[in-house]
Amino acid sequence: MTDWLTVAMPKGRIFEEALELLRKAGYNLPAEFDDSRKLIIDVPEEKMRFILAKPMDVPTYVEHGVADVGVAGKDTMIEEERVVYEVLDLKISECYLAVAGLPGYEKKDINPKVASKYPNLATQYFKEQGEQVEIIKLNGSIELAPLIGLADRIVDIVSTGRTLKENGLVELETIVPITSRLIVNPVSYRMQDERIDQMVERLSRVVEGEEA
Ligand code: PRP
Repeated sequence: MTDWLTVAMPKGRIFEEALELLRKAGYNLPAEFDDSRKLIIDVPEEKMRFILAKPMDVPTYVEHGVADVGVAGKDTMIEEERVVYEVLDLKISECYLAVAGLPGYEKKDINPKVASKYPNLATQYFKEQGEQVEIIKLNGSIELAPLIGLADRIVDIVSTGRTLKENGLVELETIVPITSRLIVNPVSYRMQDERIDQMVERLSRVVEGEEA
């Protein structure tokens, strides 16, 4: 399989958009992608193997070289700090990271708590703001934390803003805009530079709105 390319794809909300992008770039991906619980899908015609991972784990697979390339959110890249090349902004799954809390929130001096699934990113952000906070790591449904008194604020992704709104929370600070990126293992880039360059080129044409 040395001339095959292994691609780590994020399961969940980025998946469909990433799939659409690859198809528009001319990759012939079977219907199996749209309706399957398989975690590894081989596409022999393209000499490609796709692995379907948790979004936060994609940079880990790519850093370890078990995937040559991957699609990862900028949020995961900031949080995970993996040694991979970020070669293309795919401009999909646009959203942003924000600090949110209950309306009328006022900063507390004593033991402020922030819940997030991005503990490293949140720690870094509050350090830069010169504010000392305790970060509480959660794995999802972060918006629950201020509602039941686990934390005063949260650091989380805002996409449509619906989750905040429907749970009576408000955005307090915007941290950084987020999109998905194509990432590459540095060794794979040396060994398979032509194939990877071609993939970047094909995808960038679609991203820039030209035909593949
Ligand atoms: C993400 C994020 C927010 C929500 C934002 O959660 O953590 O909760 O989406 O989207 P919105 O602004 O469009 O409402 P996700 O649905 O991925 O699940 P999670 O809570 O398990 O992390």
